[in-house]
Amino acid sequence: MGDIDVELRGVTKRFGSVTAVDNVSFHIKKGEFFSLLGPSGCGKTTILRMVSGFETPTEGVIEIGGEDMSRRVPFKRPTNLVFQHLALFPHLTVYKNIAFGLEMKGFSKSEIRKRVDEMFDLIQLQGYAERKISQLSGGQKQRIAIARALVNHPTVLLLDEPLGALDLKLREQMQLELKRIQREVGTTFVYVTHDQKEAITMSNSIAVMNNGIVEQIGDAGEIYENPRTVFVANFIGETNLFDGTVSSNGNGAATVDCAGLAVKVAANGPVMDGQRASVSVRPEKIRIGAGSDTLTNSYEGVVEDVVYQGSTTSYRVRLGNGRDVNVAVQNTERSDGFSPGAAIKVGWEPERGVLIPEHAP
Ligand SMILES: Nc1ncnc2c1ncn2[C@@H]1O[C@H](COP(=O)(O)OP(=O)(O)OP(=O)(O)O)[C@@H](O)[C@H]1O
Ligand SMILES: [Mg+2]
Repeated sequence: MGDIDVELRGVTKRFGSVTAVDNVSFHIKKGEFFSLLGPSGCGKTTILRMVSGFETPTEGVIEIGGEDMSRRVPFKRPTNLVFQHLALFPHLTVYKNIAFGLEMKGFSKSEIRKRVDEMFDLIQLQGYAERKISQLSGGQKQRIAIARALVNHPTVLLLDEPLGALDLKLREQMQLELKRIQREVGTTFVYVTHDQKEAITMSNSIAVMNNGIVEQIGDAGEIYENPRTVFVANFIGETNLFDGTVSSNGNGAATVDCAGLAVKVAANGPVMDGQRASVSVRPEKIRIGAGSDTLTNSYEGVVEDVVYQGSTTSYRVRLGNGRDVNVAVQNTERSDGFSPGAAIKVGWEPERGVLIPEHAP
């Protein structure tokens, strides 16, 4: 129990006939950067609001630091929430914004100054104390919002799409910045985003949500390399999905028949002949041209489309059975590659694919 900060057990939230969060259970370790990732409306904000106490679960239990939070009002919880719309006070100075929570709690002037100064060091905005919020850039405002929450020394910091309003470049910069801040203070961060790249860049652990349920929890590598559901395979990165029926299996391997295409795949769980299943193969796991004809899964195809993307080139190849696969090739050296219309082979070994039986847990 000692190293767990937040735990949800069987948490459900209904709004009338809408089930926003459906029997969700997970735990977050102390000092972890934990992300809730999923499309709009899947229930991310609702979970954060229940952890912070602004919303009450219909069913289930939320514990923080081993203590049941059911009867604790928000301001008595060891959490702080950073909203997407930062809710800073535009007419107050940066200093006053950061100090606000501590003043409300009646800390001494000298304690407040000490803590706020620590925050200025942390967010690297020394010298901005007397500026008004309206005189800051988007990224600077973002840092102030983080500082204003962290100055209260919460056990858990909850962040709801805090970078949503920033443009891509600044967003990427702030992702690294936030990660640094989190490492320095060691506070547990629960971070909500619908951006899979952002979650992958920042998190120790990611919970992928869909329709109120958690489909999978793991670190970025696990979720990318070993998606357990078709939704996760599609939502994180790009993939090729071969849907079909298991035609043979045993000894940790299976074959899935996909519209006349036999796809061999490693199977790390039980499947049955005749069961519906998908095989997910990431574009960069597929070999194209030279060397692909000796691989276990090897198919003839015709290049339909070539997109040069700098570090990689992306090929869309139409296979004999009429389906397209996407192949990504690293441009380690400058080569001419293949042109549309070229007849080539593509291939991959069975362990490069991931078998996803239908109705996976
Ligand atoms: N107060 C409420 N009353 C009724 N329905 C609500 C309420 N709050 C949320 N919902 C519904 O619950 C579901 C989950 O909403 P939630 O805000 O948690 O999604 P989200 O994952 O944060 O989405 P987004 O990425 O768009 O912010 C949605 O269908 C939403 O319409
Ligand atoms: Mg939301």
